[in-house]
Amino acid sequence: MFSRNTYIERRKQLAKDVKDGIILILGNSDAPFNYLANIYTFRQDSSFRYFFEYNLADLAGVIDANSSEDYLFGDDVEIDDIIWTGPVASIKERADKIGVKNSGSRKDLANFLQEAILKGRKIHFLPPYRTENRNLLSSLLFIKKDHVEKFASLELRKAIVKQRSIKSLEEVLEIEKALETAYQMHTTMMKMAKHIGTYEYEIAGKMEGIALSGGGPVSFPIILTTHGEILHGHDHSQQLMKGRMLVSDAGCETPSGYCSDITRTVPCGGKFDNRQKEVYQAVLNANLAAQKAIKPGVEYKEIHLLAVKTLGEGLKSIGLMKGDIDQAVQEGAMGLFMPHGLGHMMGMDVHDMENFDESIVGYDEKTSRSTQFGLRSLRFGRGLQQGMVITNEPGCYFIPALIDKFKSENKFKSYINYKELENYKDFGGIRIEDDILVTDKSSRVLGTPIPKTIKDIEEIMA
Ligand code: GLY
Ligand code: MN
Ligand code: MN
Repeated sequence: MFSRNTYIERRKQLAKDVKDGIILILGNSDAPFNYLANIYTFRQDSSFRYFFEYNLADLAGVIDANSSEDYLFGDDVEIDDIIWTGPVASIKERADKIGVKNSGSRKDLANFLQEAILKGRKIHFLPPYRTENRNLLSSLLFIKKDHVEKFASLELRKAIVKQRSIKSLEEVLEIEKALETAYQMHTTMMKMAKHIGTYEYEIAGKMEGIALSGGGPVSFPIILTTHGEILHGHDHSQQLMKGRMLVSDAGCETPSGYCSDITRTVPCGGKFDNRQKEVYQAVLNANLAAQKAIKPGVEYKEIHLLAVKTLGEGLKSIGLMKGDIDQAVQEGAMGLFMPHGLGHMMGMDVHDMENFDESIVGYDEKTSRSTQFGLRSLRFGRGLQQGMVITNEPGCYFIPALIDKFKSENKFKSYINYKELENYKDFGGIRIEDDILVTDKSSRVLGTPIPKTIKDIEEIMA
């Protein structure tokens, strides 16, 4: 938890930016796993935590944008609950601790909003991503369930994006804590992946345990697979085999709710063969070229294009691509090898604020999302500003179904060496991902460096 003042200042700024109306920020409720009393690990809404801190179910925060008056609503526990929960602070005590002046029950919230609506006040709320909150908004605001998203406030989303996009020093320190745990997760993976025959789930389980022992859950379900060409491969059932690469994309959250998101790819057994070395170096060169170019004022779309161009040049030197690589990039040929974007913003959500609509978070009046295959998957394309934290995660994948499709359609024939590519259909994939802070003039890779050169990976795995 940050100082009381941090939360006060954040709420004041939000009121100032939204200017008029009532801001309603719902926290999350518990989600049943297989019956009501058996629940998933609770995950609070990140915007709620940003302005109202508490990682507890069934709370709501309100800010009057005109007066800056603030409110925390939730039900105090009764003696029947205390048997199960132990003593907990009252809503009023909790409100005091984060500098919120007013507090009340959930019934009070319903009455407060009803009164505001009767007075003709605009209620600003965020688009719900959970059914419980869609239903709650529907009943609190007298909107049909199917129409709730339509009335979500664009002004509120824009104002929150403005604040949460720029990380303060104390937020960066939290992200770096999440990266210390990620360091342990990924270096443990590297040491375990030395042993051929190990099951993916043995490594994924150890990594998740490290995340938990660092105080938080994983920031998204671990991707750990010897089939890296399956981009979000959550299956962990395979045994490590010689000749395959293991993609490990994993991060964690700190108790304060800040994330890390790191990918490393290593050769099963600990030694790269020549083919792996060549493709790995092409991806690493793309990662390093992007890293060097990240600075304020540059559009991330341009950095994405630089990364895929660098990858293309590497693939040309291997003999998998040919012709004019600039032209290949422009026409969209790189989507065959890297069908995803170079990165996304990261903070309290691993894809920060993705629940708002990526066109507001990742794009703006000056930049719009491409419709081209590959580039269209770039979540964040707008101009970089000091204080942003973004991921840099180029990859190269040999997806047999995609290769066959492009080949049968004669796509990018002048840039792709399909004959040679046939020999790579059993390769899998490679991704290398870091979390980067945009500084005043350039950028900094956050956290203790996790081995990523061929030499350093072979050394730690030896
Ligand atoms: N964890 C998925 C990603 O890197 O965006
Ligand atoms: Mn990732
Ligand atoms: Mn990522």
